[in-house]
Amino acid sequence: MGELSDDDLSERVARLPLERKVRLLTGASMFTLRGEEAVGLAPMAFSDGPTGVRGLEFTGGPLTCLFPNATLLASSWRRETAAEVGRLLAEEAERQRIHVVLGPTVNLHRSPLGGRLFEAYSEDPLLTGVLAAAYVAGLQERGVGACVKHLVANESETDRTSVDSVVDERTLREVYLLPFEIAVQDADPWSVMAAYNDVNGVPATEQDDVVNRILKGEWGWTGLVMSDWFATTSAAPAANGGLDLVMPGPTGPWGPALVAAVEAGEVAESVVDDHLRRLLRLAGRVGALDEPRTWREDVPHPGGPERREQLTRLAADGMTVLANDGTLPLARDVRIALIGRPALETTCMGGGSASVRAPHQVSIAEGLTGATDRVAVVDGVDVRSRPRPGRDGMRVRLYGASGTLLDDRHSEEARTIIGMHGEALAEPVARVELSAPLPAGRLRIGVLGVAHARITAGDASFEVTLDAVSDDVGADVLRPPGWQTDVVLPEPAELVAELTGREMVAVGLVAEPTPPTDDDAIAAAVAAAREADVAVVVVGLTEEQETEVADKSTLALPGRQDELVAAVAAAAARTVVVVNAATPVLMPWRDEVDAILWAGLPGQEGGHAVAAALLGAIEPAGRLVTSFPAADGAAPAWEVVPTDGRLVYDEGVFVGYRGYAARRAPAPAYWFGHGLGYGSWEYGEVTLDDGLLSVDLTNTSPRASREVVQVYLQPDPADADDQPVRLVGWTTVDLDAGERRDVDVALDPRALRTWADGRWSRLTGGRLLVARGLGDLRGEVPYSPPPPGR
Ligand code: BGC
Repeated sequence: MGELSDDDLSERVARLPLERKVRLLTGASMFTLRGEEAVGLAPMAFSDGPTGVRGLEFTGGPLTCLFPNATLLASSWRRETAAEVGRLLAEEAERQRIHVVLGPTVNLHRSPLGGRLFEAYSEDPLLTGVLAAAYVAGLQERGVGACVKHLVANESETDRTSVDSVVDERTLREVYLLPFEIAVQDADPWSVMAAYNDVNGVPATEQDDVVNRILKGEWGWTGLVMSDWFATTSAAPAANGGLDLVMPGPTGPWGPALVAAVEAGEVAESVVDDHLRRLLRLAGRVGALDEPRTWREDVPHPGGPERREQLTRLAADGMTVLANDGTLPLARDVRIALIGRPALETTCMGGGSASVRAPHQVSIAEGLTGATDRVAVVDGVDVRSRPRPGRDGMRVRLYGASGTLLDDRHSEEARTIIGMHGEALAEPVARVELSAPLPAGRLRIGVLGVAHARITAGDASFEVTLDAVSDDVGADVLRPPGWQTDVVLPEPAELVAELTGREMVAVGLVAEPTPPTDDDAIAAAVAAAREADVAVVVVGLTEEQETEVADKSTLALPGRQDELVAAVAAAAARTVVVVNAATPVLMPWRDEVDAILWAGLPGQEGGHAVAAALLGAIEPAGRLVTSFPAADGAAPAWEVVPTDGRLVYDEGVFVGYRGYAARRAPAPAYWFGHGLGYGSWEYGEVTLDDGLLSVDLTNTSPRASREVVQVYLQPDPADADDQPVRLVGWTTVDLDAGERRDVDVALDPRALRTWADGRWSRLTGGRLLVARGLGDLRGEVPYSPPPPGR
């Protein structure tokens, strides 16, 4: 494993005729690449992704750790947290013999409606880039490649494969490319993924400007650019545009078409050679060239005690106290009414390619009842509107057109994917039969998939046709349509769904007890709240909103959750709300409750982490990584639906807190950078010396606590119309009760530049604000740039 010289790489490339070179530049399967003995290349394996190493299968793969989601991890604002996640993911990859992990996602939180924000760190490019670099370094120090994605301007999901993101060059440079630039500069990721969307009229997979000129040219980056899955649509333009590898395979738009393009002189063979050199360089780095790499064998079990400790701590650290009148942390002897569907069914991860098969997902009810014995758990209102696969497994039978049984298997999950992993079947699948036993009682049953379905359960039978929601094949796989209904079964029966239709589909069964009505749930919650010292209401989103493939249309909590909180707050002595969501939600009741803990999508140990945070065993020391708007639409960038195929980033560089601070939107409910933790802090003198800012900081609370000292540059008023305030550095620091320290914050020169007339120049000056989010300023010092040459 290691770095190969350019000569060595070129010599290997020269050993192959054109066809055999080109053959290597398209995947071998959904997540693997081909080997080639003549150049010493072994097959490589890739796996998603940002919150866990799922492996080679979309469903039914091996058990693997489910990490807290990216916004929750980023809320620690700690480089060390991101680096630790990278190292742990490398171990998870080693257990599964994976060479490249498809993460981190460094797209930004532009509109809060973006469905995939849960996978991305933040609305700020510096915070995102610095954390991404730490993650990449952690991963790659163990010989597993990172893939920084998705290059570029891929901030929302609506029409994701066709949308043209229209972004001016300054905004691209200062905002959306900056995380990629920082990751490249600080950690040299071994691969990057080109996005689905177009950027200024050119597909991201054909971006000569972004890939050849900036990434590979200006930044001098030597890694490999792969396409997002099924994103490439051309041969010559993509190859000439700097794309090195088409994913997935085995077929795709390159192959013979690229060979022909070279023969016709549309693509120089040296271009193909460069793609292959980059692929071989990656192989050398991850140990897939010449000598096979050795894989670590002693990786901790994903559900074992070591991982449980790590994942509980990582999740709890990032949880963020948004409001607190002193109710938190909860005393151990209080009687708690724990209320809400997400308390019982905690959403531990988002949907889409970032989802994994976890060994367990600890609900908040399980976590809190395990930590204190004074908890009464009460279900809440419905939070979902789409059918979802049941909790237990199912039998899957595949039939050919002639009626032959092609496969008969048990799936551990109530969803599976047919035909995407190159199963060796005697003929194409014409009919799928899914079945599972049902108990007697009131049940919700249904089916998922793009298909015509006949469903039977006891005497009941139904027939439905489920159409594809778009022409994005990924959508059918990652978020198939579904149908469900409620039935009453007098005795146990079998649920059988017979599906016919398209060959490549994700299919699943719905089978669960029918939940209580919302009215009954609210009444029970109010009664329980009256009996307790404190009501803890868990509200949140699910993978219906926090998902790849679809955006949100509102930030309001789904269902009647707001009504539930208001009713409980009116009845309870004290009310704490736990928000189980990765991204902003509206909180119309926020002045009626005593404390709010934002808990993200906390991963497999979620319930333990929430319990530790509520009880103060681990300080929820997070700071928001994104601003929480006060109302729908009240954000500097909102719209995610393209007009005539174009999504114009017309807020320019005034995205997120930069736009709120410039009054381009009403003040947010909570600012980027906000978070109370359990300490209290006194800020003394602020000084600036040679680019290093120093703050005299005291923990005035009676407990050890963590502070995130944030420094923003407010440019001169003369520039303020054009130059937004921006984060330029931060330091996290742990201080004991009463401890005082001079805390240094290095200012990152990459945030102190502006892009004009095709080049970077330094900002002329302004004030450095020391703040706990821009809603809570604690000090300031004048700033002028260092003399040229420094
Ligand atoms: C996603 C990528 C992911 C790929 C492979 C795509 O749908 O956009 O982020 O890595 O699938 O699963």
